[in-house]
Amino acid sequence: MMLMRGITPQPSTERMSLHMSEYLIQGGTPLRGELAVHGAKNAALPVLAAALLCEKSTIHNCPDLTDVAAARNILHYLGCSTTQQDGTVTVTFTQKGDHRIPDRLMRAMRSSIVFLGAVIGRYGMAEVSMPGGCELGPRPIDMHLAALRRLGVVIDESGGVLRCTTPNGLKGARITLPFPSVGATENVMLAACTAKGETCLSNAAREPEIVDLADFLNAAGADIRFAADGSILIHGVDKLIGCEHRVIPDRIAAATYLCAAAVTGGKITLTHLRADHLAAVLPVFEEAGCRMQYGQNTICLKAPERLTALGTVRTMPYPGFSTDAQSTMLAMAALAEGTSVFIETIFESRYKQVGELVRMGANIRVEGRVAVVEGVPKLKGAVMNCTDLRGGAALAVAALAAQGESRLCSIHHIARGYENFDLNLRKLGAQITRV
Ligand code: EPZ
Repeated sequence: MMLMRGITPQPSTERMSLHMSEYLIQGGTPLRGELAVHGAKNAALPVLAAALLCEKSTIHNCPDLTDVAAARNILHYLGCSTTQQDGTVTVTFTQKGDHRIPDRLMRAMRSSIVFLGAVIGRYGMAEVSMPGGCELGPRPIDMHLAALRRLGVVIDESGGVLRCTTPNGLKGARITLPFPSVGATENVMLAACTAKGETCLSNAAREPEIVDLADFLNAAGADIRFAADGSILIHGVDKLIGCEHRVIPDRIAAATYLCAAAVTGGKITLTHLRADHLAAVLPVFEEAGCRMQYGQNTICLKAPERLTALGTVRTMPYPGFSTDAQSTMLAMAALAEGTSVFIETIFESRYKQVGELVRMGANIRVEGRVAVVEGVPKLKGAVMNCTDLRGGAALAVAALAAQGESRLCSIHHIARGYENFDLNLRKLGAQITRV
């Protein structure tokens, strides 16, 4: 199905129905079986933005998510046509489109800011609204803007709108990020790959999604290398042609299903994943008493009769423990015997789901960036509201282990990042229905 500029790929009735839908979860069934992990949202989104710089790209293992639909909408506006079928998205730059992304499209997805570097690379200018805060707290983009300025971008910020121009073109530069921001690193890579000369980005993020973006860009014609000290060296090329690329597996979706299996006392095998991308997360399951077996692209988890406390979990930039895996891990700790401590160092407000967990009977105290979880032997089903993507998944994990029925509202948050969430859990034996 070929979709042109301005046409919404995700039928709005589907999105509306997601807003109105709820999950009914009957807890207490141990998850069992095998599940293939889908492609990573946080890798697919920057790769889709990068496709704007190319003539034609074919992106496999692209998850079917509302955030991916939002990214395709933005691409249509910017002059691309896209198709999506059986996990493959094609993006073709068909015509000179707009260098301005309308406010409603920017607001549809917080991570739309990753298009900024690509739009500047494609058009030499860009106009986007400031993304503002989100469920996770204030989300400043000062590092993105300071880095783009180093590349020769002149940015006028007024009335909540960023107007970017490149009067002397994009020029390579030495840039050091004050913090290894994932989004700022991606924006620099996107803007610098067709800039004149060499860019050296120090203190860059090194998440697997960054490496995946570099792999896509290099296959499309860019020249990006990783130095031994973690810096990213980008030698500007004239243009990118495009390529065929396979998005890496979603390490956060994998961690979520492992948490669901662990907390329900189950035994599951996940396939199509990269265990090395979960190196900081997997030992926590072992700490909790789970028996883990690692194969080539597979992980098998067998839960103990009762989980034991997780010790101290501190979120960090990769290769540290991912903030995105913190929420579901915390739901798991709520039922583990003993005291677990979480220290969230990346986002200010990443414990919003805790209030809902407490309604289920969890014993959790939050003080600033620290959450102390005293594990309880059982949780009780409740009516709950998803607060954000990972927080929503965490509530589902807790509900799967709770006694009785839970009703989970605002599940559109979950659809942003998990493909076929309820269907996948049903495959593993969970009693979850969307109503
Ligand atoms: C990416 O967000 C991910 N999103 C997030 O996943 C993930 O939690 C995060 O990286 C950290 O791993 C996507 O990839 C689409 P950052 P991003 O820039 O790029 C501060 C999920 O659930 N900061 O590394 O926005 C910022 O406020 C999502 O899938 C500045 O202060 O993360 C935060 O505290 C949520 N100024 C910290 O740095 C800036 O200019 C990390 O942000 C940029 C960031």
